Amino acid sequence: MKQTNQIDDLIITVLKNSKDAFVSGQTLSNRIGITRAAVWKHIEGLRSEGYIIVSTPSRGYKLIETPDRLSAVGIKQGIKTRVIGKEIVVFDEVNSTNDIAMEKGAQGEKEGLVVIADSQLHGKGRLGRTWISPKGVNLYVSILLRPEFPPLQASVLTMMASVSVATAISKTTGLDARIKWPNDILIDQKKVSGILTEMNAEEERIHYVVIGVGINVNMKKEDFPGDLRMPATSLMESLGRRVDRTELLYTLLESMDSNYEGLKMKGIVSMVQEWRRLCSTLHKRVRISLPGEVITGVAEDITQEGGLVVRIGEGLTKKVYAGDVTLLE
Ligand code: BTN
Repeated sequence: MKQTNQIDDLIITVLKNSKDAFVSGQTLSNRIGITRAAVWKHIEGLRSEGYIIVSTPSRGYKLIETPDRLSAVGIKQGIKTRVIGKEIVVFDEVNSTNDIAMEKGAQGEKEGLVVIADSQLHGKGRLGRTWISPKGVNLYVSILLRPEFPPLQASVLTMMASVSVATAISKTTGLDARIKWPNDILIDQKKVSGILTEMNAEEERIHYVVIGVGINVNMKKEDFPGDLRMPATSLMESLGRRVDRTELLYTLLESMDSNYEGLKMKGIVSMVQEWRRLCSTLHKRVRISLPGEVITGVAEDITQEGGLVVRIGEGLTKKVYAGDVTLLE
């Protein structure tokens, strides 16, 4: 587990802030508190990661091009949130960002911590599945929260996350992102993002919740495995151009922060309403695979606990709380 290098992040920040001007090795050395030789070593490292930095002995260094790299300093600089993102940690590679955020929760870390990774070795999906997590192209983000409502209402947090992801995608790309029950985000009926919520709670009280979000951002069509359960896409495939991961991340964290605040101030009902507005499953004929059973019917509504109300016959409805939905029309 390798956390991204903070000195590299600082060098990039100084070079970016200097806009088009060169920054001397001495200035970098003074600002960051390392020797000029160390500055040079870090610049070499950054170049090997794809940064294009020109240098002349008399004028110093100038940043020409930045690879699509996630950095904690860069992200923290641009973010305007109240709770979510007050603490951000970024890793090059982890097993699962959700596992790290759950560990931090157990260690007593404050709510609002965001764990980000450039790749995951064992990305986890819903129902024990694997979340494909290649390096350098997508977003893998987990958020630690300590909400003050009972465990039975925890699924509203997943609804809040779905609303936030769909909103952030639409805002950043202009694409029409929709929610498919329970918490898949689709573009043109293809899955672009998934959410996995994990919780540590006792009967009456939530200790902490981790909301894990995976978004396929710049992944190429040919890199998706052929045996996926449902058609998948990435923002780049749907849009026809690359999407800046950092910009999408800001928008996501800001949207999540304001929706979390809204949930605390206005309560569950208005969040459920927003979820309904963005949902593509309601009022459609669906087939739902439940453990040991498959039902078909019309998805009629969502309950405040996140269950789907399905009309399975004349005057007959069934509430389901977990399962895979296929739209039949
Ligand atoms: C799904 O099955 O649709 C949920 C996928 C959730 C994937 C994200 S990626 C970040 C976080 N870390 C994980 O291991 N899983 C979630």
